[in-house]
Amino acid sequence: MRYDCKDLNLADAGRNRIEWAWESMPVCRIIRARFEKEKPLEGVRIAACLHVTTETANLAAALKAGGAEVALCASNPLSTQDDVVASLVRHEGIPTFAVKGEDGDRYYSHIKAVLDTKPVVTMDDGADLVSMLHKDRRELLAAIRGGTEETTTGVIRLRSMERSGVLAYPVIAINDAETKHLFDNRYGTGQSTIDGILRATNMLFAGSRVVVFGYGWCGRGTATRAKGMGANVIVCEVDPLKALEAVMDGYTVMPSLDAAAVGDVFVTVTGDTSIIRAEHFERMKNGAIVANSGHFNVEIDIPALAEMAAEKRSVRESVVQYVLKDGRKINLLGEGRLINLAAAEGHPAMVMDMSFADQLLSVEHIVADAAKLEKKVYAVPREIDAMVASLKLATMGVRIDELTDKQKRYLASWEEGT
Ligand code: ADE
Repeated sequence: MRYDCKDLNLADAGRNRIEWAWESMPVCRIIRARFEKEKPLEGVRIAACLHVTTETANLAAALKAGGAEVALCASNPLSTQDDVVASLVRHEGIPTFAVKGEDGDRYYSHIKAVLDTKPVVTMDDGADLVSMLHKDRRELLAAIRGGTEETTTGVIRLRSMERSGVLAYPVIAINDAETKHLFDNRYGTGQSTIDGILRATNMLFAGSRVVVFGYGWCGRGTATRAKGMGANVIVCEVDPLKALEAVMDGYTVMPSLDAAAVGDVFVTVTGDTSIIRAEHFERMKNGAIVANSGHFNVEIDIPALAEMAAEKRSVRESVVQYVLKDGRKINLLGEGRLINLAAAEGHPAMVMDMSFADQLLSVEHIVADAAKLEKKVYAVPREIDAMVASLKLATMGVRIDELTDKQKRYLASWEEGT
């Protein structure tokens, strides 16, 4: 079996953590139990490019239990948990190619290695695998039946491919499921982003000024959690509707250049490029902390910061301090890569349970119904979304009411008014 792993001796430690996460993934446990019996993925070769975490290990093992042959690589050079890779290779027999801190060449060589398994289904988080497949490995495209995409940034890239007419097979946008973005993006990113900043810095949030760039679901989650810890939260947003929402949610909203002068901590969660630039660093206070939680490391203009700095030094794990020519220190966390995975462990298993239940059921759907799908980006079927929500509630021991017949009739009618 081919693989690339930092140290196989970490396998037992990895297995303990994977089992710990599995305890908090009851919906995936239910699906896996069915997969073990029904084997809906028998012989299906899957190439997965995902953050290699304890939760992803459980996802990969559930796919394998359903009969699939899975090969896995990292979807970000800094998000890999090396003990998890070791356990996947040694205990699960899943070819895994990922080393935390790998450079760009090794990162892409890992995607290539996963594609070498000649997949028929792809699973991506950020669309780097799909992109390489369409650019450099086109000979493999004919065999691909479909794919899934986990995250906002990946779905944006895929929609652009669809618009340009280059998307060669159907892809299900997991991110757009309500059981995904309303929970994973909001509560998952919200908590894990703060977790990453805290683990990297050990700073006190109470009383600090936290500037959140972007008020999508990830930005909302981050702002809510920062506020909950006593921070004064400032939101910078370009969309008037979202900005208005942030105002009415109780945040201070202002242009980013104004925020640059007053913030203590800056977090980008926009999915766009060049959000914090030289003119922002120009205005920042001494000791400012700058982090990104968007998918790619393009939101903070690090080359501009490096240019402005007289000196750069590593001051703590995940913190590089840039000393500017005027003596101000700016602290960049996690090399500007997604801080929740670079400095913490990503979203908790309890929330990944829903995202990965959507993944499992969507892969099953692709395998069963590929012939009916076109070369498009598809939403997760409503029934899958509804099933994941119901199962999650049930596993949490939460019961809800059903509409009475009278209520159903009322909702279906127009005659009754004042
Ligand atoms: N994305 C964010 N958190 C994650 C996690 N724990 N596992 C996989 N992908 C993630």
